Amino acid sequence: MWGRLWGFLYNKYFRFWLKWVLRLLTGKCELQRVLGGAAAGARRTLSVEHSLESSKNKVLRNAVHVEEAEVEKCVRDVMKEKRIEQRDTGFKANLHISLLQISGYKKLYLNVENLRKVPYDSENEEHEEQLIELWNLLMPHENLKARISKQWCDIGFQGDDPKTDFRGMGLLGLVNLVYFSKHYTNEARQILSRSNHPKLGYSYAIVGINLTEMAYSLLKNGALKSHLYNMVAGLPQMEHFHQFYCYLVYEFDKFWFEEEPESIMHFNQYREKFHEKVKGLLLDCNVILTLQNTKKP
Ligand SMILES: *[C@@H]1O[C@H](CO)[C@@H](O)[C@H](O)[C@H]1NC(C)=O
Repeated sequence: MWGRLWGFLYNKYFRFWLKWVLRLLTGKCELQRVLGGAAAGARRTLSVEHSLESSKNKVLRNAVHVEEAEVEKCVRDVMKEKRIEQRDTGFKANLHISLLQISGYKKLYLNVENLRKVPYDSENEEHEEQLIELWNLLMPHENLKARISKQWCDIGFQGDDPKTDFRGMGLLGLVNLVYFSKHYTNEARQILSRSNHPKLGYSYAIVGINLTEMAYSLLKNGALKSHLYNMVAGLPQMEHFHQFYCYLVYEFDKFWFEEEPESIMHFNQYREKFHEKVKGLLLDCNVILTLQNTKKP
């Protein structure tokens, strides 16, 4: 109760006066202090984002919703509004990067969401090609005997036709699976073979699709901000989402074999434990989670 009241008063009154006093003492506004003080990365961009969102000034508040094409103009407008000299190229460049990261994150989510909303369609040649590509990448020495075949179970689908297994993740699930197999082929084959373990085995493709949902929900609720702001000094791309997915698949397999669950029946519980672990790592504002940290593809 008192905590909430204090938070309310802080945001409503005290923050304003604190900013005013600091401006008087340093001769700089909050944005200038944030952009001048911290090194590039998540800490800086998250501070910029927070400062803009909680500003009383409409131009500043709207800056967090700017689109990529408008970033340059937006930077100029913010500087004009705060009476910062356009000659201050350091401030300008840094604000530019932060705004690209902020708008890029939102754009990336929209792109990922659009792919997720495309259902797998077996009448679509491109979809079918990707599915066959997945098979060939994972099973280079075995021919698929027919499009509808029990063989799909060998790479961890549920029945004789994978199309029904993508469900809520749509094409995003397939694109993720193909990306991992293509860019980390050795790791993918190794994990597939481990997933056939007689006691600790799991369904490779089904779990892969499940991890797409984990990556997707972390992106959606903003948990990937620090990771992506640290990783890309500009617009994050689809590629960066796929890379994060690869990290999840690789780490989940390691986690699963370390934990040694009694059976696949406990998937829920271990998935949640893994999810909590990843969420914890993502809270560190210096975080970067990539597979490349541990091994080059
Ligand atoms: C992933 O697994 C969790 C836990 O079993 C489940 O609640 C969720 O619906 C699954 N998601 C997908 C896309 O299969």
